[in-house]
Amino acid sequence: MTTFLIFFCFLLSISVTATGVNVTGGNGTIQLILVNNCQESVWPGILSNGEHPTIKDGGFHLPSGEELVLRVPNHWAGRIWGRQGCYFNETTGKGSCQTGDCNGQLKCKGIGGVPPATLIEMTFGTSQSSLHFYDVSLVDGFNLPMSMKPIGGSVGCGIASCQTDLNGCCPSSLALKHDGKVVGCKSACLATKSDKYCCTGEFADPKICKPTMFALVFKSVCPHAYSYAYDDSTALMRCLATTYVITFCPA
Ligand SMILES: *[C@@H]1O[C@H](CO)[C@@H](O)[C@H](O)[C@H]1NC(C)=O
Ligand SMILES: *[C@@H]1O[C@H](CO)[C@@H](O)[C@H](O)[C@H]1NC(C)=O
Ligand SMILES: *[C@@H]1O[C@H](CO)[C@@H](O)[C@H](O)[C@H]1NC(C)=O
Repeated sequence: MTTFLIFFCFLLSISVTATGVNVTGGNGTIQLILVNNCQESVWPGILSNGEHPTIKDGGFHLPSGEELVLRVPNHWAGRIWGRQGCYFNETTGKGSCQTGDCNGQLKCKGIGGVPPATLIEMTFGTSQSSLHFYDVSLVDGFNLPMSMKPIGGSVGCGIASCQTDLNGCCPSSLALKHDGKVVGCKSACLATKSDKYCCTGEFADPKICKPTMFALVFKSVCPHAYSYAYDDSTALMRCLATTYVITFCPA
């Protein structure tokens, strides 16, 4: 009976929260706290999906040890990644990054990052559901550890993360090097661009496209991240919170 009640309350609390309209802290915004816990600078890149507004012009510099608070509107959807090893001319804002580069611009303004790059993908509610969905994706490879963690939020909220530096255990055939140092690790899809590894063409079917050895390596090191297109849903987090912390190089 007790178990039943707890379960019932759990369902009830979910449905109440999920149908409530005031989950975003009153003024319809969600707070994202970006933290750079890496030893080096990160230049976060932000790409909005579809018609959603661009945030912070899509890119900025986040020195080591610093954090920045962003606000995105309710229903916003997009991705955030970290660029590393960047140089930008202070006057023109033009330059380049060793990983995650977006057309040599400091402000990505609608341009995605060049893979391999770890991505955090997020959707803060849709017209069908107010639930927030987020994940760490290594489908386009890896460049630095990242995590996304809700503050507060409802029962069942999880932390999306890949905390391990996969560059240290990247097979040499997949490694992206700069001055002899591994700065990124390609996914098998990115390295081969083949339907078999990308789950495209005749392999665009979860029953046919199975994880490869490399996806399994990624998965064993970062179990809570997507390692290939049809990875199991353990990587997809669901939550309703007003604040999320996105950390580059979580401890
Ligand atoms: C939700 O917010 C609206 C105004 O934004 C307010 O009128 C309403 O009372 C709030 N509902 C709850 C349950 O707090
Ligand atoms: C929402 O509230 C925060 C903090 O109170 C404020 O900084 C932000 O500008 C507000 N956003 C809008 C759209 O009113
Ligand atoms: C930055 O760009 C400007 C304009 O192209 C150029 O004159 C300047 O030398 C550049 N600065 C550096 C440090 O390269």
